[in-house]
Amino acid sequence: MKAIKIKENIYWVGTIDWNLRNFHGYMTQRGSTYNAYLIIDEKITLVDTAKYYLVDELIKRISSVIDPSKIDYVVANHVEMDHSGGLPRIMDIAKNAEIITSPNGQKGLNLHYKNNWNYKIVNSGDSLNIGKYNLNFVLTPMVHWPDNMVTYLPEEKILFSNDSFGQHIASSERFDDEYSFETVMYEAKKYYANIVMPYGTQVQKELNDASSLEIEIIAPSHGIIWRKHIPEIISKYKQWSSNESSEKAVIVYDSMWKSTECIAYAIASAFENKNISFGIYDLKSNHISDIMTEIQDAKYICTGSSTLNNNMLPTVAAFLTYLKGLAPKNRKALAFGSYGWGGQSIKQIQDVFEECKFDIMEMIRVNYIPSPEKLIEITKQVEKAL
Ligand code: FEO
Repeated sequence: MKAIKIKENIYWVGTIDWNLRNFHGYMTQRGSTYNAYLIIDEKITLVDTAKYYLVDELIKRISSVIDPSKIDYVVANHVEMDHSGGLPRIMDIAKNAEIITSPNGQKGLNLHYKNNWNYKIVNSGDSLNIGKYNLNFVLTPMVHWPDNMVTYLPEEKILFSNDSFGQHIASSERFDDEYSFETVMYEAKKYYANIVMPYGTQVQKELNDASSLEIEIIAPSHGIIWRKHIPEIISKYKQWSSNESSEKAVIVYDSMWKSTECIAYAIASAFENKNISFGIYDLKSNHISDIMTEIQDAKYICTGSSTLNNNMLPTVAAFLTYLKGLAPKNRKALAFGSYGWGGQSIKQIQDVFEECKFDIMEMIRVNYIPSPEKLIEITKQVEKAL
């Protein structure tokens, strides 16, 4: 349990959650890390902490460099408990430490921990001298909570970006030049799609604020640290936050007796005939957070459900609730399904698409089992609408 030097006097002292498989509903097949950083200067500064159950690991890593009771400042870039859960223990050890946070950070930390800690409140443009280094703060509200901020260390050109640019990856490697580039980019995309997607406008403001900074290292609070592929991840964040999508379709469904599934495949044939890339996802076999990763850059979202007790299937309802919350924009959508009598599910799906303000294609409803002729008709109908 050692600290890892990321630059002279600056250490990664985070924790690795190897077996985390669910992060508030997001399936994290590769685990995660809660990255914290220690800056050794006249004022010893810790940037963020870790989840409460890994605080011993955090303390051991800090102790491999200094006595944790000597910490002067704890920068709390974000209140969410994956980064602040370790604060009570740290503040108990470093009794004279001050917490540096945004106004909403102080409010949120008070509401979480009900403690009389010493705070120094900072706003965008504020700077704190800690010896030979300065810490510059930029508030980034809603990336991902109202309290978020990032901290920039100009002398070493490091951006401590908190949730932005993170990925859920547990690994012994710390840097992007030590790990599979494809995997880091995939996990960064999954993270964006499942955590950051609703806040595109705020991300664009953050990117704009960061564009004037010289950055050699982006040190996020989850996963791998960026030092080689900074232009690539910034370019992806620009693309993702602008809701750019490509000619790609995601066909998501659940089916009771495979009739809705048959319709899904007939719809897929339309995309195939038009040479549009597509993926077919049965909700019984695919997790909604993996499907969202595919939706991140897909122009077409097709969703189908059988009707069960006058409603869509619960799996489809869960998917649509998740989709609506993550609020992708500028998409073309199609509702479909098979039904026995009421057939309410298809209109219910379409209603959600309308709430999402998607461009809606004519819905497809089939009574019981679609005939081969009906399936050909469906393919032609969808093809025409593309
Ligand atoms: Fe990694 Fe919004 O916390």
